[in-house]
Amino acid sequence: MEGKKITVAIDGYSSTGKSSFARLIARKLSYIYVDTGAMYRAVTLYCIENNFINNCELNVDKIIENLEKIRIEFIFNTDTGKSETFLNGKNVEGKIRNVEVSNNVSAVSAIPEVRTQMVALQRETGKNKGIVMDGRDIGTVVFPDAEIKIFMTAELKIRAVRRYNELLQNGENVTLQEIEKNIRERDYIDTHRDTSPLKKADDAIVLDNSDISFDEQMKWFDKIFRSIIEKQ
Ligand code: DC
Repeated sequence: MEGKKITVAIDGYSSTGKSSFARLIARKLSYIYVDTGAMYRAVTLYCIENNFINNCELNVDKIIENLEKIRIEFIFNTDTGKSETFLNGKNVEGKIRNVEVSNNVSAVSAIPEVRTQMVALQRETGKNKGIVMDGRDIGTVVFPDAEIKIFMTAELKIRAVRRYNELLQNGENVTLQEIEKNIRERDYIDTHRDTSPLKKADDAIVLDNSDISFDEQMKWFDKIFRSIIEKQ
């Protein structure tokens, strides 16, 4: 898989496995991988730690006022082979996946000023192509000219079980009902917000992975990639 570098935009619902899929594609292609959900999660963590969010109540003015103090970076961990999220110089990879962040991230990411700042950073990171980026608005807003756009979906129950197992492995004390509720709520907020709602780009290809294995998804992508790259 060599030759001219392109942009791969992956969007879709929560817990459809976008990140694992995108990360492996990037590794195979030797492209940069950016998990934009992690960026919105890091902003949310910053807001929680600074008391701009209390009991799911957002102090939007304070959040906007403090946005310029937030610095997000991804640093590659050679031991795990994964990029990790750093917030103002601190590794927050473990913290940004917790339930409190998950319960607030959709509301934070619906703030237009937050989105403007994150989108600018995402465009800068991907300006030279050779990038795989996953999120909710990558194919519609961040890179509307991406050569490959994928829209991922899967049945809600299946997504909830996958996420639940992941959180259990990380030692989180959660119930399947809680996770299902959180995913349902995030789907709703993400698809109904005014600024850049989650939706399939007209030219995106749908990948419903309810019943297909990770290997099958990679083979599916490989075919698409080859057909696109031949035309470049
Ligand atoms: O991919 P994720 O579940 O880690 O994303 C967390 C939240 O961030 C998600 O509920 C919506 C928001 N998000 C967004 O609004 N735009 C993106 N490009 C990525 C994530």
